[in-house]
Amino acid sequence: MTEPQQPRGVLYRWASILPVTEATPRITLGEGDTPLVRSVALGALCGLDELWFKLEMCNPTGSFKDRGMVLAVAKAVEGGAKAIMCASTGNTSASAAAYAARCGIESYVLVPGGNVAAGKLAQAIAFGTRIVQIDGNFDEALNAARELTQKHPVALVNSVNPHRIQGQKTAAYEICESLGDAPDILSVPVGNAGNITAYWKGFGECAERGLATLHPRMYGFQAAGAAPLVSGKLVEHPETVASAIRIGNPASWSGAISARDESGGLIEAVTDEEILEAYGLLAAKEGLFVEPASAASVAGLLKLGRAGRLRGGRAAAILTGNGLKDPDTAARHYHPDIVVSDATVAGVERALGW
Ligand code: F0G
Repeated sequence: MTEPQQPRGVLYRWASILPVTEATPRITLGEGDTPLVRSVALGALCGLDELWFKLEMCNPTGSFKDRGMVLAVAKAVEGGAKAIMCASTGNTSASAAAYAARCGIESYVLVPGGNVAAGKLAQAIAFGTRIVQIDGNFDEALNAARELTQKHPVALVNSVNPHRIQGQKTAAYEICESLGDAPDILSVPVGNAGNITAYWKGFGECAERGLATLHPRMYGFQAAGAAPLVSGKLVEHPETVASAIRIGNPASWSGAISARDESGGLIEAVTDEEILEAYGLLAAKEGLFVEPASAASVAGLLKLGRAGRLRGGRAAAILTGNGLKDPDTAARHYHPDIVVSDATVAGVERALGW
């Protein structure tokens, strides 16, 4: 007989670095502890000595959001909340809805009309959340969610809730643990800017605790049609194929700028063409099917590498969400060459031209 396994999950594994108390319910869907896998093809194309992918798409609802959401929902429940709310481009709502279902509380999500990938909406529906489609974009949905949660007894679980950032910082600890140090460069897609803020906090703590000897340079990438942090100006009508990061007024604006400046990093834009190229290459050359927003982190490294701006070193790119969430982009991007055959060996041979 072997010992029964300890439960997995961020609130178990990382309790010592999180604001959890005896009273915090230890909810888990097995989030965190995601794989860090080494690139076999794209690292060399980028001019890096080592490129690692942190597969945050392997979290239970298929995106990195679960790490912070588990803590935000646990703290809401600890505080007596019976309902939670968020605005979302899709992944936050899928995650919030899952943890709310798990805890038996109500959830409400505000999503920009027409701009949420089909898989994400399907998740929110399956988890039984109340979905309100806003006639407006994410930024307007977030403004409404902030006001509504001031007015009604409902907890806001967007990344303006500090527990989200706390939970998400655990990914930085895992990277330091896996590599034995922080990487030289951390590349991440940027939308509302909670994640880049959380990683910078996590890496800072790792250095303080002696888990890393260096601070990575933080490289954030926004989509060119939704790049307020690059231009320094709000974008009123953000547009990009990467619907997850179609955001014109990031809530954690100052967190992203601090991460960039304190780390000696950068925040730059990548075009939809560059995002889709990286999306295709990740699948074809690395076996990693991610959603378009996630490919922005790799598109950015490819762009810098081709311009001769990456000279060796070790980088980690965060793959934030699963490609299965956005089947429509996949259908538009790939032109499948599917041949049909009867169910015979001869038929399949003929179809394959063997
Ligand atoms: N990648 C994916 C797949 C996302 O869903 C998001 C954000 C980001 C990157 C950017 O992270 O906002 O912390 O800078 N999605 C949010 C949502 C906005 O509602 O699901 P960020």
